[in-house]
Amino acid sequence: MHIIKSIRGLQAWRRKHENHKIGFVPTMGALHEGHLSLIRHACKHCSTVVVSIFVNPLQFGPGEDLSRYPRPVKSDQQLCRDAGVDLLFWPSSQEFYPQDFQTLVKVHRLSQRWEGEARPTHFEGVTTVVTKLLCLVRPDRCYLGQKDYQQLLVIKQLVQDLNIDTTIVRCPTIREADGLALSSRNRYLSANQRIQATSLFTALQQGVQAIKQGATNVWAIQSRMQKVLKKYPGIKIEYLAVCDAKSLDQLSQVKGEVVLMGAIQIGNVHLIDNILVKALKKS
Ligand code: PAF
Repeated sequence: MHIIKSIRGLQAWRRKHENHKIGFVPTMGALHEGHLSLIRHACKHCSTVVVSIFVNPLQFGPGEDLSRYPRPVKSDQQLCRDAGVDLLFWPSSQEFYPQDFQTLVKVHRLSQRWEGEARPTHFEGVTTVVTKLLCLVRPDRCYLGQKDYQQLLVIKQLVQDLNIDTTIVRCPTIREADGLALSSRNRYLSANQRIQATSLFTALQQGVQAIKQGATNVWAIQSRMQKVLKKYPGIKIEYLAVCDAKSLDQLSQVKGEVVLMGAIQIGNVHLIDNILVKALKKS
């Protein structure tokens, strides 16, 4: 596995691999089974797999966990090597965002709601870094997890709007045995918080069950989901919503494909999850 830290180095490498089918997995490191499954998807469908590890300061708001975000450098390298990654791109913040850096990429409508409300500059940071990475790596396919569903839609939109010649591939959320979606932030949870954290998935499942039983009134579905989380005084619900799966508009009636999305705060840990579900067809 090659490790390249400089932008010029990556550009030179890319020129030498013009005819390769490149699969790309952008990450912030602290790799877990979720990332590894993205890498496995990329290895299956592409001749050459590139992973980037960059804890992107632009996507963290003031007071968020940028400084304490886990950076297990050696084990991340080993995991990439073992997974069959061809190139690991590991830029420094100074080179990626030099002092006179002035360009931000913003996807307007999709970025403003849900995660965007709680974290107003977050998606601008994500779309700026992802645009830069896609320009550098020029992958045929870029692999992203469904866990960050809004991020996935925002990135799809930016690829479409900016005519970037890359296919965004959605890969399923990887979960612990009790349903908790894997996230690098799970390692911040205490043992007790860890037990409570799984209730976000339970709540979303309750919503899915209601829809599969024919419920269409979103307020009733939401209150069923809220009931699960309200059992835990340590959990603050940031949002629990039933949305159109493409626009992320909040619905009042379930119709077509919907996404049940939730975000909670446990202590100072922010967790998100979602499930996609199709409304029952009227007979
Ligand atoms: O999902 C992540 O890990 C990050 O938001 C991403 C896409 C690597 C951009 O920094």
